[in-house]
Amino acid sequence: MSVRLHVNVDHVATVRNARGTPYPDPVRAAEECLAAGADGITAHLREDRRHIVDADVERLRALLSRSSRTFNLEMAATDEMVAIALRVKPDVCTLVPERREERTTEGGLDVVAGGERLARQVRALAVAGIKVSLFIAADASQIERSRAAGAVQIELHTGEYAHGHEGELARLADGAKLARAAGLEVAAGHGLTQDNVPALVAIPGIVELNIGHALVSDALFLGLGAAVRAYRAAIGRGERKS
Ligand code: PXP
Repeated sequence: MSVRLHVNVDHVATVRNARGTPYPDPVRAAEECLAAGADGITAHLREDRRHIVDADVERLRALLSRSSRTFNLEMAATDEMVAIALRVKPDVCTLVPERREERTTEGGLDVVAGGERLARQVRALAVAGIKVSLFIAADASQIERSRAAGAVQIELHTGEYAHGHEGELARLADGAKLARAAGLEVAAGHGLTQDNVPALVAIPGIVELNIGHALVSDALFLGLGAAVRAYRAAIGRGERKS
């Protein structure tokens, strides 16, 4: 089966919110991505609601239910967000670290420091039938603790790889191997582009990519459907290498 492509529509909402208009609508964008073959839609409801807002989450839930595709809600591991997820019931909840002053998610979640409180939140989501994914660095202790905390999936943070840091691809490959051995599904995301996707996808064990900023940027020139197809093609190039 092909590596799953989940499109993050946050930045459609960023453009909308810059002017306070109802357009461009991230839910319409999600519909176009699904029509072009995306396997799912990802959205990050931030504490400050800077892009995706609560009403978007409700509408995305309804759209993804109608389309029988995956709704992945990214959120901080806070009681407010857990309560929202328990009510909305996304298919997947990806827990991410969040700092108000950051431009985007910087670094992975510290599952080790999250301790029992984080494990309790993971359990609450899992009991409600939500698949829990933890957005972490490819670090052995984080991977082991993710499993222990009850996550089904990890999403490896590819920010450093996207910045071209030497040795990152090997680190991600080691992390994916370790996670697979621990019985975890392995997703990846952050800073992914048509250029850096193929080498990443060639890593055995990676089954899902979450891509937002570069895909939405490419869509300005290609259109959203064509951008989704271009990323699908980039995934295909990587799969042929693996
Ligand atoms: N995955 C996670 C967990 C993220 O937090 C983000 C950024 O919101 C992405 C993927 C998408 O990253 P980008 O917008 O750089 O493609």
